[in-house]
Amino acid sequence: MSMIKEKSVLVTGGAGFIGSHLVDALLARGAGAVVAVDNLFLGSLDNLAAAQQSERFHFYREDAADLSIMDHLMARHRVEVVFNLATKALLYSFTNPEGAFMVNVEIMHTLLYLQRKGAFKTLIHCSSSEAYGTAQTFPMDENHPYVPATPYAAGKAAADLMALSYAHTFGADVTVIRPFNNYGPRQNKDRGLEAVIPLTAARLMRGEMPIIYGDGEQTRDFIYVEDTVNGLLLAYEIPAARGQVINLASGKEISIVEVMRGICAYFNYDGQIEYREARPADVRRHRGDIQRAQKILGFTPQVNFDEGLRRTLDWYTKS
Ligand SMILES: NC(=O)c1ccc[n+]([C@@H]2O[C@H](COP(=O)([O-])OP(=O)(O)OC[C@H]3O[C@@H](n4cnc5c(N)ncnc54)[C@H](O)[C@@H]3O)[C@@H](O)[C@H]2O)c1
Repeated sequence: MSMIKEKSVLVTGGAGFIGSHLVDALLARGAGAVVAVDNLFLGSLDNLAAAQQSERFHFYREDAADLSIMDHLMARHRVEVVFNLATKALLYSFTNPEGAFMVNVEIMHTLLYLQRKGAFKTLIHCSSSEAYGTAQTFPMDENHPYVPATPYAAGKAAADLMALSYAHTFGADVTVIRPFNNYGPRQNKDRGLEAVIPLTAARLMRGEMPIIYGDGEQTRDFIYVEDTVNGLLLAYEIPAARGQVINLASGKEISIVEVMRGICAYFNYDGQIEYREARPADVRRHRGDIQRAQKILGFTPQVNFDEGLRRTLDWYTKS
């Protein structure tokens, strides 16, 4: 039987892109209560339209770093498991570097404090491949050094280290999951701080020229959101994942030029692409090593990039 069944689960960042898919999956798998805490910095209630139909779902527009509110919500809903996904998107690093860094650390501080005093049991923390910085070894496994390129990434790395230190020092029940680049339905395309796929889709739908920063030969490892959500759930279901750091990726590398080609083909666009100066904080190469996820979680990504991109762009054009 699924361990999540009947459990009371809290998701920080639950109105966001990945968080809202996780909320839906938790409800579908029979969680007793799913509590989403999101301050709507970038998340949207539209993402939770399906979840709102369930009596087992509870939404709070709150700051997940707020100790007294989180303490209250944990007690009120007898929370057993927390999935920590709240963050402020990478590009926020350029306009408010302090905020981009601190949000990760402050939320982690609150969660670890509450966990240590017994407010909930298990923490599945969603980190990011950005904590590694640009690839120094290839493919990038979980022993890759931390060389974060942005304040956002430094905040993610700091939060990871804090969580792992509590696991080491106090035996905290913590798992750190490092997804690589996610894409899929609901990824923000028009609320600012957009990632490359939604940004390009939105520009083409508005009749604007796509933009590439740098030469476009920089690579990313794109993982479809459904695969990430499955990996996060497995991280809870599989006891051997406790205390581990585990990558979630496709294991494949794709350049931004190739991504752009795929999006342009979908929209039958054969016009020009605007090349802008490279952003210094953009990592150059990313490809995740997923052997640990395969071994510990039995994780294999199910959706290849062409299929995932088609599903994503279908969603953008229909929503
Ligand atoms: N999207 C990716 O490519 C990617 C890749 C690797 C890791 N991640 C990680 O996955 C997680 C989810 O990312 P996403 O892409 O869904 O981002 P997102 O911006 O869509 O979701 C994050 C959510 O956190 C909320 N939030 C921000 N500050 C908050 C606060 N103080 N309290 C409560 N809520 C707050 C935002 O409103 C938003 O809904 C993040 O931890 C991110 O670092 C994302």
